[in-house]
Amino acid sequence: MLLDLRIEKLVQGGEGLAYLPDGRVCFVQGGLPGELCRVEIVRDKKDFAQGHTVEVIEKSDDRVRPKCPLYGKCGGCSLQHLDSEKQALFYETVTRENFRRLTRTELPENFKVHTGPAWGYRNRARVVISASKDGRVHYGFRMQKSNGIISFERCPVLTSALNEFLKENASKIYDEFVLNSENSDKKKPNRFTNRKANRNTSRIELDVNLFDNGNGKISYYYKGMPASDFEKNAVCVVEIAGKKIRSDASVFFQSNLSLLPELVDAVQKAVDEGIANGEASDAWLIDLFSGVGFFAALLKDRFKKITTVERDEGCLKHAKVNLDENLNKLIENVSAPAEDWLSENVVNVPATLIVDPPRTGLPPSSLEAIVKSSVNRLIYVSCDPVTFARDYVKFREAGFSLKKAEGFAFYPQTPHLEMMSVLSR
Ligand SMILES: C[S@@+](CC[C@H](N)C(=O)[O-])C[C@H]1O[C@@H](n2cnc3c(N)ncnc32)[C@H](O)[C@@H]1O
Repeated sequence: MLLDLRIEKLVQGGEGLAYLPDGRVCFVQGGLPGELCRVEIVRDKKDFAQGHTVEVIEKSDDRVRPKCPLYGKCGGCSLQHLDSEKQALFYETVTRENFRRLTRTELPENFKVHTGPAWGYRNRARVVISASKDGRVHYGFRMQKSNGIISFERCPVLTSALNEFLKENASKIYDEFVLNSENSDKKKPNRFTNRKANRNTSRIELDVNLFDNGNGKISYYYKGMPASDFEKNAVCVVEIAGKKIRSDASVFFQSNLSLLPELVDAVQKAVDEGIANGEASDAWLIDLFSGVGFFAALLKDRFKKITTVERDEGCLKHAKVNLDENLNKLIENVSAPAEDWLSENVVNVPATLIVDPPRTGLPPSSLEAIVKSSVNRLIYVSCDPVTFARDYVKFREAGFSLKKAEGFAFYPQTPHLEMMSVLSR
């Protein structure tokens, strides 16, 4: 069914909101505020409908031609039709609205969104490398909904170093995987020398994680990489705020190195303010959901005792290196779910707490343990302002209030926003 609809505003996910003639809400992919769009309705439910723009009848001044030929097909970067200069306003408006709706309170008036490069910013990616029947190697992104693969030659949000690396090395990585698999099947490692991979024998789809350290080194990792290749291929060192942080392409790391220093700066300032005003202390830094010990490594000089807690085992060896300086202080790098660590350890001092959970937000038992502890101030780094708002409701019920919030446009051309907030009681 086709309908002409006026877009009222943008909402979470970057869709336009319009009203159907019967008053129901319709979420319109590809529509901008003020535009009159011809919309194909693709989902028609009792309370709402969903559709996508097939024609823009009256166009907004903020509309631009999407840069990527795969816009609308790839599934990522769904905001490319909105002028990059206007995206910060979108993030701010939608984040304020969501926060108001979910918490019945306002974000601070000075909430602002830090911005960086609109293109070529993404320093980490997961791609799929495969070969066609004629032996030609392709790479692309795995599509979220269908699990199909969308091939690309150049992705405009990836750093140019990642694009170049893929162009030059996708075949080599594919062949390396095929030969390694054949070797491990035959258990004769020496057969590797002087052999060519047979690209036609099987339909392999190889998921590869890539990591550009921003300083000339690209690391990569795929499941099944021989342990002897890991250090050379997968490990990398990133320099941030004058410190070298060790990580690898198999584990989490922030994916916008251009803007990361601004987030680090905001977190450092928030930590210093908490210590200075006495709401937190330098007795103990607890970095929960710590990855490779990222924030703790940058802040370690300020604290007497430091604990990092991270579920992914692969991070532990890096966290140990990133925090080891033979300093005269107690450092523990724990590999465990944050909720388990919190239930087994009593935080009975006004420690400085940083939490940086995944998109799903804090596991409920972690949140409960934090509010029962002696922590009076926490720094909450979030990659989903909606789950942050949901968690904030619980913190507020326990007496916390929101002291500060800042947004970081880590993922331009997409509707996602990174956020840093300070809560205290
Ligand atoms: C958004 S990342 C933040 C990592 C780190 N703070 C950084 O900036 O690099 C979230 C991290 O939480 C970890 N994680 C997810 N669920 C967890 C849990 N229940 N307990 C501990 N860590 C968890 C993930 O493995 C990931 O490394």
